[in-house]
Amino acid sequence: MATPLNGTVVITGASGSLGSKIALKIARRHPLCHLLLTARDVWSKKVEVLSEDIRSLGPRSFEIAKLDLASFRSVRKFAKSTVDRVRIGDIPSIQLLVNCAAIASFKADAFTEDGFDLVYQTNCLAPFLLTIDLLEAFRLSDGGNGTRVINIGCSLMSHGKLDYFDNHTSRKIDSPLGVDEGLIRFGSSKLLLNTLMYALRRSLAMTSKIDLSIFTLDPTRASYSSRHATKTPAKPRMKTGLLLAIPYMTQMFLTNMINSASRSADAVVKVAFDPLKHDRIGEEKYFVLEDEYYVRDMVKLTNDHEFMEIFLRQSLMDVGVADEEIVSPV
Ligand SMILES: NC(=O)c1ccc[n+]([C@@H]2O[C@H](COP(=O)([O-])OP(=O)(O)OC[C@H]3O[C@@H](n4cnc5c(N)ncnc54)[C@H](OP(=O)(O)O)[C@@H]3O)[C@@H](O)[C@H]2O)c1
Repeated sequence: MATPLNGTVVITGASGSLGSKIALKIARRHPLCHLLLTARDVWSKKVEVLSEDIRSLGPRSFEIAKLDLASFRSVRKFAKSTVDRVRIGDIPSIQLLVNCAAIASFKADAFTEDGFDLVYQTNCLAPFLLTIDLLEAFRLSDGGNGTRVINIGCSLMSHGKLDYFDNHTSRKIDSPLGVDEGLIRFGSSKLLLNTLMYALRRSLAMTSKIDLSIFTLDPTRASYSSRHATKTPAKPRMKTGLLLAIPYMTQMFLTNMINSASRSADAVVKVAFDPLKHDRIGEEKYFVLEDEYYVRDMVKLTNDHEFMEIFLRQSLMDVGVADEEIVSPV
């Protein structure tokens, strides 16, 4: 009789350099996981190569599903089908979600069909909505080693501005943005993703809706060596962001962002499967590779509970989720 699978692992951006490495390493080291890998284009060469690499490891349970984070419709469709499949026992309950996909753009893009900045929606709002819409598929888990959501962060959030996406200036579609502005835009999307996902985690913990560990892991790679930038800008200048703690910036300088995708993927897999101490509210974890920190010491903004609460409610509205599903009544 075949050994039963022990959980589903969802990885977004599996066609990317980091996402594909994470998928391959999990397939190698945790053969009893079902891998539900997502890509915008399931027929791309990258996906084909990844599928072959996984098959070459021997019998593995994996599939590639279409998911476009620039569309809430696509996110909802993927999440609904996943929850339905978990319910009927077609795939095991979710034990891990890695929000890895991201985009950087150095030109003025058209707003998404949902009316948001493309980078903001892809990097922040869509992974947030995906996590919420998959909650039921996590909830059906028997707990075990603990269910987790890992958000892939980036030190470029030190360039981020909280209100970057509030100011919609009208620009000619496709006109160039310039490196500095592109980095601020990308960094802002990552800063807001971090903050929002920790706010979600706190809210879920406080309302005891689900025991789900949600945290950020910074893979500290050489930024913009990847394909997610539409142009390769010069090496980013590091600014001391007011919202980030100094030790974090020092760490970033020291590690000098030189890790390979393989090294970063090793850290993700370790943190994803190693036993994790329970993170209480105010003591949430933040990882730089596999090194563990408290998010309160790394991203100062997360100490501002009032902002976190307001931002969570606003974002729930933006993605069309009723806040009573997530937040406790005040
Ligand atoms: N590279 C670095 O130096 C570095 C440093 C720090 C942090 N990170 C973080 O690591 C993660 C992975 O980056 P990477 O280096 O692997 O970049 P990458 O090779 O460019 O991969 C990005 C992935 O995101 C996917 N993606 C983009 N837009 C999407 C959308 N609308 N819907 C669904 N998927 C979409 C891409 O899919 P397609 O194949 O369809 O384009 C691709 O799979 C990102 O979160 C990034 O911020 C990277």
